[in-house]
Amino acid sequence: MNKKQSISTLTALAVATTMAFGANSTGLKDNMPFKLGVAVSNAQINDIANGRKTQALDLIKRNFNQVVAENAMKDQPLQPIEGHFDFDAADAFVDWSNKNGMKTMGHVLLWHSQLPGWFTRGDNGELCSREKLLDRMENHIKTVVTHFKGRVAGWDVVNEAVEGDGSYRRSDFYKILGEEFIDYAFKFAHEADPDCELWYNDYGNESAKKNETIASIVRRLKSKGMRIDGVGLQTHIRIDSPSIESYENAINLFVAEGVKVAITEMDISVLPSAWGLTAEVSTKVEYREKLNPWPDGNLPPEVDKQLGERYAEWFRMFRRHAASIDRVTVWGLSDSSSWLNDFPVPGRTDYPLLVTRDMKLKPWTKSL
Ligand code: G3I
Repeated sequence: MNKKQSISTLTALAVATTMAFGANSTGLKDNMPFKLGVAVSNAQINDIANGRKTQALDLIKRNFNQVVAENAMKDQPLQPIEGHFDFDAADAFVDWSNKNGMKTMGHVLLWHSQLPGWFTRGDNGELCSREKLLDRMENHIKTVVTHFKGRVAGWDVVNEAVEGDGSYRRSDFYKILGEEFIDYAFKFAHEADPDCELWYNDYGNESAKKNETIASIVRRLKSKGMRIDGVGLQTHIRIDSPSIESYENAINLFVAEGVKVAITEMDISVLPSAWGLTAEVSTKVEYREKLNPWPDGNLPPEVDKQLGERYAEWFRMFRRHAASIDRVTVWGLSDSSSWLNDFPVPGRTDYPLLVTRDMKLKPWTKSL
């Protein structure tokens, strides 16, 4: 074959490949040794439910092969009033993700936030009885897990039950049932769907003390012969902290307990911190201009470069542990929809994700 013939053969092959797989079939996900996930916002789910075709949904389909609802499958939206379940938005989302072949995770069965008041309290506002809470937990968890059976691969069964100092969070669940509320939640979920993956999920895994307590939960459940598939490390981090090593230690610790790990809610804030590292949603700090240095949506190139390098370093670490990492999920598609724009200072402009405000993949994502 001469040079001209071989070029035309190559061109024909390229055209055939493009026709077979679609012009937009390759994206970030195709370069990863684990699933690459994204949290889908309420606004995006609303577009899905209304059959709208948007740039955001196209970007998700092309670049990610795992999804989770950022808010739509929490207790408050699913059961706002006791006994009244509303699955419409979540159903539209799950049907769409299944149709598009993405691993769909459920977030979350038990969390102290976005929890309707009736769940843990009586009419008088006081904590409900142990029996009442167990009854409500069983009903919520079994109804929800059964509803999505076969359509979601797994659930965050319990979210954020441990504090940074390694103690149990004094949530209503804990106050009423003690640490065993976690065991009951895993039990109810497993009874509803024995095939479903069951995960514990938390932030702040730079804390060795927190990780020790999480590891002890894994051991406790396993010693009772119960199912727990993995520990989710949310990974809400900053451009300058914590160290990668602290998270690598966490991964090694959990893997040594015989479970998988997942990076479940990654984002990297570039804004100045006045409060330390936390994802505790009740934290609030008053707005000050110096806390919002780039309000017009343009991140200086040197800061964007630093952000890209930080993402790349973390992904290199994730790749080293690819055999134990189920998925790496970012907490939102584009900078404009990140929860960090309003946390813990409302009205800021942060740049924590992989897609810009004008819906372009950041150029450094190629190096992840
Ligand atoms: O749904 C109501 C809506 O009815 C109301 O009109 C509107 C007015 O404020 O609020 C809506 O609820 C908001 C909800 O997001 C949906 O948009 C809540 O106020 C707001 O607090 C809530 O924030 C979410 C937060 O969890 C609390 O649930 C963030 O978007 C979400 O990114 C964040 O995600 C959490 C993970 O679930 C767990 N790990 C930490 C992570 C970050 O905090």
